Amino acid sequence: MNFQLTEEHFAVQQAARDFAQTELLPGVIERDAHQKFPTEQVRKMGELGFLGMMVDPKYNGGGMDSISYVLAMEEISKVDASASVCMSVNNSLVCWGLEKYGSEEQKEKYLKKLAVEGIGAFCLSEPEAGSDATSQRTTAEDKGDYYLLNGTKNWITNGSTASVYIVIAQTDASKKHKGINALIVEKGMPGFVVGKKEDKMGIRGSDTHSLMFTDVKVPKANRIGDDGFGFSFAMTTLNGGRIGIASQALGIAAGAYELAVKYSKERKAFGKMLAEHQAIQFKLADMATKIDAARLLVHQAAWLKDQKKDFVKAAAMAKLFASQIAQDVTTEAVQIHGGYGYVKEYHVERLMRDAKITQIYEGTTEIQKMVISRELLR
Ligand code: CAA
Repeated sequence: MNFQLTEEHFAVQQAARDFAQTELLPGVIERDAHQKFPTEQVRKMGELGFLGMMVDPKYNGGGMDSISYVLAMEEISKVDASASVCMSVNNSLVCWGLEKYGSEEQKEKYLKKLAVEGIGAFCLSEPEAGSDATSQRTTAEDKGDYYLLNGTKNWITNGSTASVYIVIAQTDASKKHKGINALIVEKGMPGFVVGKKEDKMGIRGSDTHSLMFTDVKVPKANRIGDDGFGFSFAMTTLNGGRIGIASQALGIAAGAYELAVKYSKERKAFGKMLAEHQAIQFKLADMATKIDAARLLVHQAAWLKDQKKDFVKAAAMAKLFASQIAQDVTTEAVQIHGGYGYVKEYHVERLMRDAKITQIYEGTTEIQKMVISRELLR
């Protein structure tokens, strides 16, 4: 693995850092408080190319590598994890899957728009199928030239703001996971209703909804891949998605760490700066070491993906580790801030709340351990 970032990588990193500071930081506390989706900010992210970073330029994407993507994800997540989950889902779960497995017609119709404007949603989880993703209850009945879609999806990121939804549904239950399909559903298709918005602990600016499908007619042309490919599509896409969420967790940790360093150089206690107390220095040393270790895992997974090598285990390890250290580092950042850390103005309490979801979505910590151990033992 090459540890040397290129000029282009540094430029992308700087652009994401500048965007996060100038466009996302103002208003992030308010958006969190009022559960307000960063509509205008996400629109600008699209203009700057952050929504379709790895998509081929012929489909309006940035044509960048995964290292550029994780660098940008880290910078944006340092400031606003609600914006970065929208970015991650659009890049990794929607654009990547469509580009790799979609038909030329689907790419022309959907990918070209999603790569610049977003916003896509990936709909796998259900009220009774979260980690146990093969137990899909949503059905896509084969009606000849269309599927009749019925069911409910839960906890869908970009639930109300998306225009395009990739919906995983069971067509032939007798074939179990080999009878599942992935369908492209457009907002506005008759019978498709956006349901309740979740009132969440963290990433409160991100819009998370349940979705209801009642006799939605989805043209056969909207199926991604061959009949029965849907579960494999979901799993393969999630492998890459986990790199995105790992970089989000890394960014949340790094953002909290940077705030803790800054605060420890500003605040005095017992006649000297916090940073001069060994108790604080040791905390910062642990936090920085964990962040560096997580970054190495994230970059390794991204690098393996770019090299077209097997990255399944590496991505799961990166997500497992980065999401754990995000808990540790954000909690310590609050601790270093003391009472100030517990109030919204200082940002670290939000980062601590935002960190938790990285251990849950796109495969819980326990699912990552399943994926890793299966890869180790097979
Ligand atoms: N990559 C590719 N294929 C995989 C895979 C992986 N990581 N894991 C499993 N598969 C394939 C298997 O090879 C198998 O296919 P074949 O029969 O053709 O070989 C098929 O999937 C079924 O696998 P298993 O028999 O192992 O199924 P299982 O039920 O025992 O376990 C699981 C599957 C790995 C636990 C899977 O259900 C899983 O990953 N669950 C977690 C789901 C998840 O991550 N949900 C996140 C929701 S999306 C989200 O959060 C998005 C958002 O909005 C932020």
